[in-house]
Amino acid sequence: MFSHKMRFCTALCFVVVLLFGAPVVVAQTSEEEVQPSLYNRLGGLAPISVVVSDFIDVVVPDPFLNENPAVNASRAHVPAPYLQYHLTAMVCQATGGPCPYHGRGMSETHAQLNITEQEWDRMVTLFKEVLAKHNIPAMETQELLDIVGSTKADIVIVGSGE
Ligand code: HEM
Repeated sequence: MFSHKMRFCTALCFVVVLLFGAPVVVAQTSEEEVQPSLYNRLGGLAPISVVVSDFIDVVVPDPFLNENPAVNASRAHVPAPYLQYHLTAMVCQATGGPCPYHGRGMSETHAQLNITEQEWDRMVTLFKEVLAKHNIPAMETQELLDIVGSTKADIVIVGSGE
């Protein structure tokens, strides 16, 4: 009789743990492991919009980049606030934020600009300077550089030395 009760209790405990205990344990583990999105770690849309604005302020008038005639010509007819709007939405979306990017694809947008490796490197240098100015931590800086870097193959079409 006693051992029958024991077996019943063991089975009941097993069912209770299975139904309630286990999900709680799983929930606790995943809460600890899931890291906030890059968007949230950067502080959301307000700080992101300031970083993008500062980046546009240095990248659009940059003399080295504007030595490229196609880039320079485009600067004359594509307004900086338009670029800023699209880049903000793009960074917001790519970092896990709620803003949808509705601009054109990177390949289509940059195809006629003949952007070189050296121009790419210049843009990355300017971007890093802006991130440093805003004290973006090393890990978040690297994640942002990785996001920007993932577009390189669509943007740089002229190899160095060509
Ligand atoms: C050396 C690097 C780059 C240069 C010189 C450059 C230059 C330009 C120029 C001149 C335009 C206007 C094109 C036109 O409509 O005539 C443009 C558009 C744009 N660029 Fe870049 N770009 C560079 C890299 C990047 C990167 C790394 C990103 C994002 C990760 C980016 C995002 C955009 C976006 C979102 C637009 C607007 C797209 C649209 O019109 O819908 N660009 N860029």
